[in-house]
Amino acid sequence: MKAVLLVGGEGTRLRPLTYDVPKPLVPVANLPYLEQLMKYLRRFGVDEIILTACYLSEQIKAFCKTNIESAVKLTYVIEESPLGTGGAVGNVADFLHETFLVFNGDIVTDFDLHTLIAFHREKKAKATLALATVSDPTRYGVVDLLPDGDIHRFVEKPKKEEAPSCWINAGIYVMEPAVLSLIPRSTKVSIEREVFPQMAETHHLSGKVFESYWLDMGTPADYLAAHHDYLDGKISLEIKESRKGKNWIGERVTVASGAKLISPVLIGSECEIGQNAVVGPYTVLGEGCNVEEGAKIERSVLWNKVRVGREANVDHTIIGHEGHVETKAVLEHEIIRGAPRKLGAPP
Ligand code: GDD
Ligand code: MG
Repeated sequence: MKAVLLVGGEGTRLRPLTYDVPKPLVPVANLPYLEQLMKYLRRFGVDEIILTACYLSEQIKAFCKTNIESAVKLTYVIEESPLGTGGAVGNVADFLHETFLVFNGDIVTDFDLHTLIAFHREKKAKATLALATVSDPTRYGVVDLLPDGDIHRFVEKPKKEEAPSCWINAGIYVMEPAVLSLIPRSTKVSIEREVFPQMAETHHLSGKVFESYWLDMGTPADYLAAHHDYLDGKISLEIKESRKGKNWIGERVTVASGAKLISPVLIGSECEIGQNAVVGPYTVLGEGCNVEEGAKIERSVLWNKVRVGREANVDHTIIGHEGHVETKAVLEHEIIRGAPRKLGAPP
């Protein structure tokens, strides 16, 4: 089956990290998320992926060329200017002649795609949305769902009092090519604001609620939450590091005397933890990080080659590749851009 991946957004809510790294290449459990997502899709028999990209698309292409291309057939369709979530799907219509999948590029889940596809076929639906249950639906597309799985209303990001339910669009769709005729071409179209509401009104939209782990990692709080949940064993992701007790530790990690790892932590290969430093709990260090003497890092995610200066204190913070925390600095709930990189350079 073919899957269309929507990875053209600017990732504004993860700025300034996404000034240098497009959201699909943001690491989750130390692997660029696109890689995690592709491994997940392959597990469900997806053998061809159509990447619809726009923002920092050269970086995405360069990354896939060196890391992914051999394992799955990849087609890149680059938008000169963003076509929106609907326009992006319409733009690749020529590749889609059978039932296909569409995936937002920032969804962390281990939900069983086979169940969704089976439900879609049984319903003979034009499009079927995977639906997650959340306590605050206002950040999402929200549906009014009938017991038989028909969606009869779809509202994107409604006010709290206008949300028809707590069932939200999980950003995972099974579609028939017939949907493509509902999308105007060569113009910006939001699938959530223009296509789904109309399909719901004409009874052509179905939905299936699922209970599996689901999270949109596109905000700093949810990005940290995805890591927290991973370290708590709530979702399984592919990682390179080896399990050691309650932690995951990469190769050639050095921990100096007096330094402490407080579980659970994920430490990438070649990290150096200095004397009396404290790392954890709920902390992820990318590859080649250097935590200097007496520094303390908790509930934070550091990307590759970050240096944390002596006696610095880092809490609930995300730091981009090659970022540097000054000696004795105190960072709480911060998002720190790493060293700027050249456009097109692999992350
Ligand atoms: N190709 C392309 N072109 N992709 C785009 C464009 C575009 O112009 N605009 C956004 N995307 C991609 C983003 O890269 C992302 O992977 C996906 O579309 C969704 O965009 P977000 O910006 O992350 O949307 P959201 O999180 O606010 O809302 C969407 O996801 C929710 C679930 O997390 C909607 O689909 C909601 O209805 C849904 O509930
Ligand atoms: Mg999103």
